[in-house]
Amino acid sequence: MRILVINGPNLNMLGIREPEIYGSRSYKELEAFIRSACEKHGADCEIFQSNHEGAIVDRIQAAYGQFDGIVINPAAYTHTSIAILDALKAVAIPTVEVHLSDPAEREDFRRTSYVSLVAEKTVKGKGFDGYEEAVKYLIGMKAE
Ligand code: DQA
Repeated sequence: MRILVINGPNLNMLGIREPEIYGSRSYKELEAFIRSACEKHGADCEIFQSNHEGAIVDRIQAAYGQFDGIVINPAAYTHTSIAILDALKAVAIPTVEVHLSDPAEREDFRRTSYVSLVAEKTVKGKGFDGYEEAVKYLIGMKAE
């Protein structure tokens, strides 16, 4: 099972960025957490982070035929990016959307998620653990 994990803008600032919302652990710690979750559940994972919408679209396109699942935290692009939605639709790789916080409990502008329109599942408000839940879900789907 090959899983591509994509993290969007400002997630590289974890630990510094609004710790009362996102916690005090760093992005490096998130990467280590994701790698160990993938290892624990027997998945090969690649992690990609970008602050640029086009770079995320390019990475999704390049995943075509290369990955069995995508875990994506599109960060602020969740609420704005039809381009990321279309790229995910184009490659048709089963996708799970993850958010560290629960956007539904925050500002109104965070209530819309374009990625939710294509995601098999959304995990929100569970911090780092949400990524492990997403990996487990994709492995379960593949096993069916
Ligand atoms: C986020 C929630 C988004 O609304 C926000 O723009 C982020 C992070 C989360 O993980 O909780 O950057 O996706």
